[in-house]
This record gives sequence, structure tokens and C-alpha cells, in this order.
Amino acid sequence: MATPSTTAMPKRRLGDLSVSAVGLGCMPLSFSHMRDERPRALATIHRALDLGINFLDTSNIYAPSWDAVGHNEELIAEALNSYQGAADLSSVVVTTKGGITRGEGETWGRDSSADALVRACEASLEALGSTVIDLYQHHRHDPSISYEEQMKAVAALRDRGYINRIGISNAQLDEVHVALDVLGGPDDGGLVSVQNEYSPRYRGESDVLELCSTLGIAFLPWSPLGGSEQAKDLGSNYAEFAAVGKEVDATAQEVTLAWLLALTPMMIPIPGATRPETIDSIVRSAHLAMTADQVDRLSATSPMGESMYPEDQPRSPLR
Ligand SMILES: NC(=O)c1ccc[n+]([C@@H]2O[C@H](COP(=O)([O-])OP(=O)(O)OC[C@H]3O[C@@H](n4cnc5c(N)ncnc54)[C@H](OP(=O)(O)O)[C@@H]3O)[C@@H](O)[C@H]2O)c1
Repeated sequence: MATPSTTAMPKRRLGDLSVSAVGLGCMPLSFSHMRDERPRALATIHRALDLGINFLDTSNIYAPSWDAVGHNEELIAEALNSYQGAADLSSVVVTTKGGITRGEGETWGRDSSADALVRACEASLEALGSTVIDLYQHHRHDPSISYEEQMKAVAALRDRGYINRIGISNAQLDEVHVALDVLGGPDDGGLVSVQNEYSPRYRGESDVLELCSTLGIAFLPWSPLGGSEQAKDLGSNYAEFAAVGKEVDATAQEVTLAWLLALTPMMIPIPGATRPETIDSIVRSAHLAMTADQVDRLSATSPMGESMYPEDQPRSPLR
């Protein structure tokens, strides 16, 4: 197989944008064990840019501690500002999220009221050093207000000129329909992406994936390798992914990302990484060819785990 740097990264549609078929999930770069690893974190993002990844996923709450909210966004800003490679930075799409709160003493909550989202978005703009956010994602349902109200609050951010595009995350089918009613679809400049958990381990809300595929909404599977704790054990936990890996001369992790890409052209996985060499493997996955039979064998495996946030499944009904 060609080395990643010699082959152009395939692209996928995200609303009116064209982004790398695989993005980079930046969350683990702000885990507490990475606090003293700033050069390695920057090198990881730089390697992604070098190899054609132009889609970076972050959130205001990705931070080593509650008093460092914005950490991951600031890291991305620093990585872009210090980048000296050949990638065209004007094509880089950074997406962040708002709606989850993280306060003193690590108290977590939700607030998608209009005022809270304005404050969160303003803080994200400052942390990113941007005048506008390419794609803003509503992070998680706030059970204290209706989903419709939450969507209107996100739309108001665009009316203010803070954000260019809107996505939602952790959304169930009825919530996606509410979002579509309020915002319109991707062809009307409305909802362009849904970011839900999806991996060999967890395949809930497949109805959402199907709808996204039908309507041309990008589907961004989060924790596509089962999350930082389990990613390294993918091959031993999911034997079929290792078996197909042997057949195509790839790792189980590469096969997983290639399998996701094969499920629908609207799929844009966002694996996390904390090492530049992991990026090389991620990029290899975007070039990996598998037969339809191999893809079907992987799809036929049983998801073995529940959601990484089981307390949210099922969520309270829409209010
Ligand atoms: N919307 C939400 O509610 C939500 C929730 C969770 C996550 N997310 C987003 O989804 C992104 C991805 O999820 P995640 O980071 O939790 O989990 P993940 O992508 O399933 O796993 C990340 C781990 O996989 C390893 N890895 C990545 N590619 C690999 C490869 N090709 N070969 C071997 N190992 C590989 C990395 O190792 P190294 O560290 O060794 O490089 C990293 O530790 C996050 O970064 C975040 O942006 C969103």
C-alpha cells in the first residue's frame, strides 16, 4: 500500500463543504494526561494537516479540568497558527459544540437556552481566535426546554453571524425531525450534520444513520473505535475486524474506519488520536479497499457494548 503522504485524501460532502473523508477528533488531546504533552498534541494536529485531514472536531468542554474549558479549542488555534507545512489552511474546517456545561468542582450539566448558547459560542469564538465558526454543533439535548426551542437558539447564533453551519449531536430520530422542521435540510442551508456514537461496540440509532444517508446529511460517528480506553483492544474484542484486517493487510482499527466509510457516502468518522503515528494509520484507512462481502461480514457482527453514556439511553421524551 502507498504511504499515506503520497496519495490524495478522499473527500466527502458536509453541507456545501468538501472535507477529508476522515476527520480528527481532538478530544483526547485535552485529556489530563496530555496536559504536559503540548508539543506532541500540536505535532499530532500538524501531522493530520500534512496528510490531508482538513476536518477538526472539538468542543468547548474538551479540557483537562473544569477551570480550563476552551482548552481544546485553544490548542487547535495554536496548531493552526504555528503550522508551517504545505497544507492549505483556508480549506480547514473546524467544528465545535455548545450546550453542555462544566462548572466548578467538575459539575456537569446542560444549558441550551438562547442566552447560554450565545455566551458559549462567544467563548468558543475567542478560544478559537475566529470571527466565525464553520460548523457549530448542538452537543446534547437539554431536558429543561423543548428541542424546538434549542434548535431556534442555535439558529439565532447564525442570525448573529457567529456561525456558518449547524449540526446536532447525540440526537434521536424524533429530535432530528424537529431539527429539520426548524432549520431545514442540508440543501436549504439547514441541518448539515449529525454526530452520534457509532462503532463496532455501539450501533444504536441506526434509523438516524439511515435518514442522514437518505437526506444527504453528514453522519459523524463519535468514538468510532469504541473510545480511548477500548480502541487498542479492538482486534481482540471484535475478532471479525481482526480477521478482515489479516485479509486486507491492515489493522483492526484501520478496517473499522474503512468499514464505517463503506456504510454510506455521508459517513465521516472522527477518530481521536494523541500521537502523530496514529494519524498515519487513520489516513491509511481512508484508502483501504474491502469487498462488499467483507463489509457485510463486519456489519453482521453484534455490537457488544452499550453506549458509553448509558445513563442517557433512552433519554427522556421530548418536551
Ligand atoms: N459528540 C459527543 O458527544 C462526543 C463524545 C465523545 C467523543 N466525541 C468526538 O469523537 C472523537 C473520537 O472519539 P474518541 O476520541 O472518544 O474515541 P475513538 O476515536 O474511538 O478512540 C480514540 C483512540 O483511538 C486510538 N486510535 C485512533 N486511530 C487509531 C488507529 N488507526 N490505530 C490504532 N489506534 C487508533 C487513539 O490512540 P492514540 O491516543 O494512541 O493516538 C485514541 O486513543 C473525539 O475525539 C471527539 O472529538 C464526541
